[in-house]
Amino acid sequence: SGPQAAAMPVDKKLAIISPAHLQEQARKVMTPGAYAFITGATGDEWTLQENRRAFNDFPIRTHRLQGMAAKDVDLSIELLGHKLAYPIMVAPMGVHLFAHPQGEVATVAGAAAAGALYQSSGASYQPLEAIAKAGTGPKWFQLYFNADVGVTRSLLERAKAAGYTAIIITADALGPGASDAFKLLGMPFPPGLTFGNHDPLQGGTGNFRHQKVALTPDDIGFVKSVSGLPVIVKGLMRGVDADAAIRAGASAIQVSNHGGRQIDGVPGAISVLPEVVKAVKGRVPVIFDSGIRRGIDVLRALSLGAQAVAVGRPVLYGLALGGPSGVQSVMEQLRDELQLAMLLAGAGSVRQLDGSFVKA
Ligand code: FNR
Repeated sequence: SGPQAAAMPVDKKLAIISPAHLQEQARKVMTPGAYAFITGATGDEWTLQENRRAFNDFPIRTHRLQGMAAKDVDLSIELLGHKLAYPIMVAPMGVHLFAHPQGEVATVAGAAAAGALYQSSGASYQPLEAIAKAGTGPKWFQLYFNADVGVTRSLLERAKAAGYTAIIITADALGPGASDAFKLLGMPFPPGLTFGNHDPLQGGTGNFRHQKVALTPDDIGFVKSVSGLPVIVKGLMRGVDADAAIRAGASAIQVSNHGGRQIDGVPGAISVLPEVVKAVKGRVPVIFDSGIRRGIDVLRALSLGAQAVAVGRPVLYGLALGGPSGVQSVMEQLRDELQLAMLLAGAGSVRQLDGSFVKA
């Protein structure tokens, strides 16, 4: 104990009982501002609620007498050239400083320890190079386009040089997305917050706020040709948009409504997954995020045709409560829950999960 011990950033494994308990424990260690920023969504938070409720529209159909034990369940996948131990990754989220003094450097270390792919936000507190160095596992870089095309180019070149293996274009981050609760508190960003990728000392230009939001399919080709990396388009909620993105060169689609943080009133993300999967017609992998909290949620998304899922807020709750080891605990808990869910549903591998495991 003593003042020095208290200042040490937390790093401990968590016993996770339930998503609600994890969130409640995290609330107790966060400032009200941090909690409002991370937990909240836009408007009345109807979409935030739908992201959870809509999973119930797809009850699970178990398959019995499959002669399986837990050890027979194979969670591994191949995705854009990576062999992953299980199909659950960390979604890109800005400003991890809200949850932990070391920010993303702590999160990425926890993801790597858990064997989970890390999607790194362009709005990180730490610069992308420091994040890449701290995380030995597979990593993708999520790009926020800059109004200055030279800044965008430089971000792509830096991401490639740092070892990121794909670029995520977030197509739905057109507005500020702050929750009413965060606004009511006066939008209290953490003291000392900078956006690491734009720090002039790190080769950035300091002008993160000049985001280019008016994106078209042509931007996909631009990112692909500048980076030479596969491009994932995140934030699509319509089949026609997925089709347009693929025709423009996208290597994967990430179905997402940004965890309800952009426009309220859109359906729960899982509700539109079947439409997008149908439009994609197996041309590229589909990744799903927004509302994943339990192993059975992952099972349902995979059964509806996603190849992998990403998880947002629970990772930051784990980060706040346990630092790198807390993040690791969150990811391993989801992995273990998925394994159990598959055993209980009667699916021996993720390739076996198909529409017969859910009832629309
Ligand atoms: C996000 N999200 C996000 N997405 C993105 O592409 N770039 C970003 O910088 C951020 N920032 C961000 C911050 C915070 C605090 C949260 C909670 C979310 C959206 C994120 O990638 C993902 O789509 C959702 O979080 C998924 O929903 P769940 O799992 O949080 O329900």
